[in-house]
Amino acid sequence: MKILDKKVLAEREPRIVYLEVLAEEICKAFKPGQFVILMVSEVGERIPLTIVDKNLKNQSISLIFQEVGLTTKLLGRLNKGDGLYSLVGPLGNPAEIKNYGRVILVGGGVGIAEIFPLARAFKEEGNHLTTILGARNKDLLILEEDLRKMSDEFYITTDDGSYGRKGFTTDVLKELLESSESQGDRYKLIYAVGPIPMMKKVSEITQRFKIKTLVSLNALMVDGTGMCGCCRVSVGGEIKFCCVDGPEFEAHLIDWTELSLRNKIYEDKEKHICKLYKLVT
Ligand code: FAD
Ligand code: FES
Ligand code: MG
Repeated sequence: MKILDKKVLAEREPRIVYLEVLAEEICKAFKPGQFVILMVSEVGERIPLTIVDKNLKNQSISLIFQEVGLTTKLLGRLNKGDGLYSLVGPLGNPAEIKNYGRVILVGGGVGIAEIFPLARAFKEEGNHLTTILGARNKDLLILEEDLRKMSDEFYITTDDGSYGRKGFTTDVLKELLESSESQGDRYKLIYAVGPIPMMKKVSEITQRFKIKTLVSLNALMVDGTGMCGCCRVSVGGEIKFCCVDGPEFEAHLIDWTELSLRNKIYEDKEKHICKLYKLVT
């Protein structure tokens, strides 16, 4: 669980950090779409992070995270040579990777890191890959060159127009779906990972075009093995546990309102803990 390498991918707050972590067993078993749950220290909480890549030679995995709160900020303070207190994985089901034909991947914010292993796997299966990346601004855009190389078509949007097209990933998605409909050249799968409002909007758009849409959900998790029920989501009217039944689900079946409300349950406490921590450090 030693950190072999660290890079700050986005310096601007909230920073985005890359870590390569020694994980002999996890790197052998990992498949795209799976995640780990880690603890920075003995007294801290457990947080889930997607496995972005593996390096069998170094027996390591790579993680990319945004410093959005206390635990990710503490994780971002660790350096090469430091160790994590605990690391469990690979968790969750691997993504449903096969040859669909024409596939669109939509990555928003740090969700771009999560589509990286999917992009490679979809490409290896022979899919025609269109990638749409979205970030708040140019400084928070990650993995652009890696994903550009893997993609047959590639689009970037930023909320403030500082790079690529000004606007949202869903603007590009809508236009692509409209023009593919008129040309009779349909996309067979849309896969989106990013903030809940983005995934919800993707789902609304693709539902109109009746295209299969998968998302990787970021429900709140504690144990990550189906025991605590914290990560429950409603999918097609049934209760599912994101950690063991997901994290990949059919977007059109998800109760998005419930998911966004549940994800905000501890927001006040999370901010309060962050303030208290600043007082003692
Ligand atoms: P806090 O201030 O505690 O929380 C900020 C927000 O993060 C919360 O409002 C909530 O929406 C979310 N969050 C907090 N605690 C948890 C938790 N235990 N489980 C899930 N979400 C939580 N983030 C990345 O930056 N990179 C990734 O690759 C990544 N992969 C993920 C994969 C999965 C399967 C899931 C469920 C989440 C993933 N996340 C990822 C989100 C990441 O777990 C949260 O950003 C992190 O837990 C925030 O913790 P914090 O203490 O820093 O922030
Ligand atoms: Fe506890 Fe999924 S995190 S059941
Ligand atoms: Mg936290």
